[in-house]
Amino acid sequence: MTCIINIWDFNCGIAYALKSESTEVLSQELKQIIKTAAPNNQGLNYFILPESSELDKIPADPQNPITPAKIQLGQFLFHETALSINPINKKHWQQSSCATCHLAQAGFRPNLAQGLGTGGLGWNKQRHRDPEVSPTEIDKQDVLVPSVLNGAYQEVKMWDGRLGVAGANAKEELIKSNDVNRYQLHGLETQPIDGLAFHKMGLAAIAQIPEYQKLFAQAFPDRPYVGVQEEDNKRAALAIAAYERTLLANQAPLQKWLKGDEKAMSAQEIKGAKIFFSSTCVQCHTGPALSGKDFRAVGFADHPNDFSGLNLGRGAVTKRPEDDFKFKVPQLYNLADSSPYGHGASFQTIREIVEYLNKAEPQKLEAKYAGILSPWFKPLHLNPEQVNDLTAFLETGLRDPNLTRYLPKHIPSGLCFPNNDPESRKQLGCN
Ligand code: HEC
Ligand code: HEC
Repeated sequence: MTCIINIWDFNCGIAYALKSESTEVLSQELKQIIKTAAPNNQGLNYFILPESSELDKIPADPQNPITPAKIQLGQFLFHETALSINPINKKHWQQSSCATCHLAQAGFRPNLAQGLGTGGLGWNKQRHRDPEVSPTEIDKQDVLVPSVLNGAYQEVKMWDGRLGVAGANAKEELIKSNDVNRYQLHGLETQPIDGLAFHKMGLAAIAQIPEYQKLFAQAFPDRPYVGVQEEDNKRAALAIAAYERTLLANQAPLQKWLKGDEKAMSAQEIKGAKIFFSSTCVQCHTGPALSGKDFRAVGFADHPNDFSGLNLGRGAVTKRPEDDFKFKVPQLYNLADSSPYGHGASFQTIREIVEYLNKAEPQKLEAKYAGILSPWFKPLHLNPEQVNDLTAFLETGLRDPNLTRYLPKHIPSGLCFPNNDPESRKQLGCN
């Protein structure tokens, strides 16, 4: 059958699906499709995530080699509620951490349309604003919190890619677009340098904890903890980034299937994968994380709390009108663990996104869109069964069921984590 290499012919795909139902046959077909989708004859390997222990295979910033000591320190810092020492309202002192908004149990997202740092109460989906304080006393942003899972596969960070000096930002004027890029690091390393302060955190309260002193010395033998805020924040950032680089969804069914376990995906997930890897999806969502290194406009609406006007996305960084409304192409693993979706939280379910992409009618109708929407954003003509299959692939085929392996067993302060407010303490069993 010749149509398998004609990746644009959907009728052909339907004929194929009807013909073949057994997982073995479907698996063979998927292998062919994936090989066609991988550039330079790289085959299935192109989409395989390394093990978290294969440090030499994980993409790294040359300025920040990944070491076991940094990973250990970073894992603690990422979950450390004792870092939260500068809340806007003193009442919320030492109650939240990075993992409050990026929690392992929710695919390293918050399971909320708006992540709530200091000033929030409760854990995971139950988190809400502290009703006793004004909204200005709550750490929250008017974009959806992206996942930090599989983040090693993008050099620049944030929806508009403003952080990091490599990849899409390699040009000097783009590096200069954000002050924190002066450190000349990749996005993952750059983000926490400012992110710690931005999210009301600091290291002062952990300085005297022996376990941290030891870990800082092990992670940075030539430059241990020195008690100078900027220096120490930078080291903490390097450690956090090293830990984040090991957060890989390498136990997801697709990953097991790629590594040879043909039973790891159901027939329906394989059918969905066939659609994914033979349609437009893989043009933008590619590589081991099914993410992108560039910026595309697919017409998602902005966040309902965004009162600033239009979110220009990449255009705000490059100042080029042709980049307006383009956003970083996100990774696609473990999305089922947290909703909603899109930079503006404008989709409640994964199925809604699949249906939207199938129709390709933009939510954001600004006239400026003429010529800006990606040519890959076009009707796909999937039938309802194919929509089901693609949804199943995204929901379960790409879901690593075991992300809690990335949680620490304790944190050196001994406080409750990832949250330490009274409601979370009850929900997490810390009392
Ligand atoms: C209040 C919730 C909140 C807290 C707390 C928080 N983040 Fe985030 N994080 C966000 C939001 C929102 C974004 C996206 C911002 C944007 O694109 O403008 C983000 C983006 C990121 C990104 C970039 C992801 C990508 O794919 O571009 C990384 C990495 C990250 N955060 C790590 C951290 C670390 C490390 C900490 C702790 C120092 C932290 N976050 C604390 C909400 C939070
Ligand atoms: C033209 C490039 C492009 C194509 C084609 C594309 N996507 Fe995306 N996708 C994006 C971008 C960019 C975003 C983020 C947009 C935003 O939030 O404004 C995104 C977001 C998503 C999200 C939401 C993720 C999250 O973190 O909230 C899902 C799910 C998704 N895409 C799945 C798919 C599937 C399935 C296909 C194929 C039917 C597909 N995409 C085709 C670029 C693309």
